[in-house]
Amino acid sequence: MTGSAFEQALAAIATAVNEELAKLMPMVEGPEGRVVEAMRYAALDGGKRFRAFLVCGGADVLAMPRTQSLRVAAAVEMVHAYSLVHDDLPAMDNDDLRRGRPTVHRKFDEATAILAGDALLTRAFEVVADPATHPHADIRCSLVSEMARAAGAAGMVGGQMIDLRAAALGLDAQGLERLQALKTGCLIAFSAAAGAILAGNPTAQAKLAAFGADLGLAFQVGDDILDVEGSAADVGKATHKDEAAGKATFVSRLGLEGARNLANQLVSRAKNHLDGLGTGAELLKAAAEFAVNRRS
Ligand code: IPE
Ligand code: IPE
Ligand code: MG
Ligand code: MG
Ligand code: MG
Repeated sequence: MTGSAFEQALAAIATAVNEELAKLMPMVEGPEGRVVEAMRYAALDGGKRFRAFLVCGGADVLAMPRTQSLRVAAAVEMVHAYSLVHDDLPAMDNDDLRRGRPTVHRKFDEATAILAGDALLTRAFEVVADPATHPHADIRCSLVSEMARAAGAAGMVGGQMIDLRAAALGLDAQGLERLQALKTGCLIAFSAAAGAILAGNPTAQAKLAAFGADLGLAFQVGDDILDVEGSAADVGKATHKDEAAGKATFVSRLGLEGARNLANQLVSRAKNHLDGLGTGAELLKAAAEFAVNRRS
């Protein structure tokens, strides 16, 4: 699989998920329209759409229709966008730049950013629970519970809590890995497994979730490396912030070389989990390489 075949597939899914997101969050009239404007600002433009790619790529491997997988992909991107809006708030990472533009609380105001995040999260579950996502209620229910677990206190929110306390906690290597697995790994693992949940295929779900867990960690190692090596112009957000903020990252613990080695190990482990899923999984393998070789 060439890099460009993956890049083309990623670009096609990004276009499709952007259209889906725009349809799922139409502008509204009235004074509450401001929150929808902020939701659209946060979710519609920019972003690599890596999680959307994993949802659709995993679903494609199992021949599930794009009409279904794109709805789940859009929902995951809503959850991800909400997490970024709240992550950037002054009470958290206090960032002014996201996806090359002012953060939501800078463009609007803090209260609107909190509400836009809340509404993106709730809309995501409304979208997954809609019968248009899958005709069977038990499948929709599984998607809802798995996405909730990945996003909540046992997943992303739990990881964000540990992240904020990391300096005081003095985490060892295992503690750091757990932080990152929760903060970033869980939603990426859900994204990778979602197509198998749609397909009602537990064997593929286990493989794709294991792939996604290793990939999610590798993706966060890549994010930590980019904070040190990237420029704001390339990555669209402020860099060199983690060390200044005393964040526990893979780079602060292992050094750049160590972090790169870990990322490569995680990628090969991730790819091994795809054995038995056929040639359709080649694009997912390329996605794993992208997670650690990306420049943004
Ligand atoms: C950034 O995620 C936050 C992390 C969990 C590392 P992405 O790097 O996927 O951000 P976008 O969606 O492309 O902006
Ligand atoms: C945030 O991690 C992960 C989330 C769950 C939002 P970071 O704080 O490292 O993400 P960036 O670097 O701001 O994108
Ligand atoms: Mg953060
Ligand atoms: Mg941040
Ligand atoms: Mg970061």
